[in-house]
Amino acid sequence: MARETQNQPGEARWWDRSVGYQIYLRSFADSDGDGVGDFAGLTQRLDHLAWLGVDMVWVTPFYPSPMADFGYDISDYVDVDPLFGTLADADAMIERAHELGLRVVFDIVPNHSSDQHQWFVEARRSRDDPKRDWFIWRDPAPDGGPPNNWVTHFGGPAWTFDELTGQYYLHLFLPEQPDLNWANPAIGDAWDEIIQFWLDRGVDGFRIDVTQGMAKDADLRSNPELRPLHDGMDRHEQWESFEHRYDIVQPESLDIFRRWNRLVEPAGAFLIGETYVLDAAALHHFLTPRDGIHAGFWFQPMHIEWSPDQVLATLRDPVDAVGGGIGWCMSSHDDPRAPGRFGGGELGVLRALGLFTMFCGLPGTPFLYMGDELGLVDGVVPLDRRADPVSFRTGVEADGRDGCRTPMTWEPGPGFGFSTMEDPWLPFGGRTDADTVAVQATDPMSPLSRWRRLLSARRRVIDAPGFAEAAVQWRERRGPIISFRRGDFVFALNAGDAAAPFNPGAPCTPWFKSTEVFERGADGVDRPLKEPGAIDPPIVLAAGEAIIVHSP
Ligand code: GLC
Repeated sequence: MARETQNQPGEARWWDRSVGYQIYLRSFADSDGDGVGDFAGLTQRLDHLAWLGVDMVWVTPFYPSPMADFGYDISDYVDVDPLFGTLADADAMIERAHELGLRVVFDIVPNHSSDQHQWFVEARRSRDDPKRDWFIWRDPAPDGGPPNNWVTHFGGPAWTFDELTGQYYLHLFLPEQPDLNWANPAIGDAWDEIIQFWLDRGVDGFRIDVTQGMAKDADLRSNPELRPLHDGMDRHEQWESFEHRYDIVQPESLDIFRRWNRLVEPAGAFLIGETYVLDAAALHHFLTPRDGIHAGFWFQPMHIEWSPDQVLATLRDPVDAVGGGIGWCMSSHDDPRAPGRFGGGELGVLRALGLFTMFCGLPGTPFLYMGDELGLVDGVVPLDRRADPVSFRTGVEADGRDGCRTPMTWEPGPGFGFSTMEDPWLPFGGRTDADTVAVQATDPMSPLSRWRRLLSARRRVIDAPGFAEAAVQWRERRGPIISFRRGDFVFALNAGDAAAPFNPGAPCTPWFKSTEVFERGADGVDRPLKEPGAIDPPIVLAAGEAIIVHSP
């Protein structure tokens, strides 16, 4: 019964009370001086995350991999690539995280493997190989071309011809990432074992890569074409030239997630999907059965233009559509960092913090991407240092994803405390001492200090009686001020370009305000240094500023 209602108000589970933090392992902390982040480095830096006040860490893939897509091409799902350490290092990380009260979510990639995975090596040997049907093979079309018109997320056809056996195989990403055939029950059995392997090592959940793509149309029908492809289109333009009716968001995926739900439930583990769909209806498809994935990331905040209408819609649409289970994020290892997209400078930082403040009050789990807490914009990666295959494998000039993947900046000095190597796998891309954790920790108005206060406020709000179970009530939008009430709290954000008054409707006590420093009083409540005690409306919010008020 509980399983059927787990996303409903009243059924808050540990992840509904948590704030997550995404770690792009290659760029987080390098313990052995090879210029690439690793498990031992992460373990040493876990104290920072506990101090910052997050509850759960999501670690991107660390499995053995030829690194065609930096670890999202996996050649062994149950081991650690030597670049990142050993299984013992992974165990030690999990143990230390648990000691600090942090939960650990590992990134699993069930849509595809590496072409170097033993399964694919065997599958491509012959058409009769027992592993052949673990991947998706088809004869060429009558003209010798690909079997259908599907394109990859990285641009170009989703099929590669295999000379030896005279058939094409399917890949929604690089040719080095052949898609697994989830219509074959053997894949489900193999994946049960993989998930159990990591549960037995103590992980608390899984971020499921490419959730939207695992099940495909049984007949692999061509997608309806919206406009003809032509040379020079970038990967997004190519992707948007089709209605994705048959390659993604197929109902059969719900059966996979139902099965996994039963598998992880005894461990109380969390399943969050990379539901890379930009409309709330598709998120609804994955989340409303309530007996599959517990949550799905909502990616639209990474694609909006900053305006009151768009900010309101991106907050409200998924809540109205699915109620809960929303993974809120605004930056990732795949998308440009939020402060840059929101205008850069102090305003960009304030807007990112403001948007995240709203995430903190809505049902679901907000996730920071490493460095969000420092207010970082993308690093500048010169052409000759670009590493992401998206930059040079799509046939057209593309920026790729390197800018959001540059290494963390921990402290001033060569290597910024990330590595003893001064010039790691990606350059730091123009960071300064002011971008480091060590410097920001000493300044009460730094992004880091503000984020830390926000997470502290979020923890106390989520623990307040009735809050986690309460539904969201949207308040009428007043000019640029977006606000909602949940339980005894009102959350408000000025999504406009100039200061504007916010009227909470009654005397209230601010628990967090992004431009002010708060001090904890004897009653345990944080109050702004400038305005001690309860305040009367209205409250002026600067452009991009957000506030959380207690207003019972
Ligand atoms: C997901 C990952 C991305 C990767 C892709 C293929 O979208 O987040 O980094 O390139 O899957 O595995």
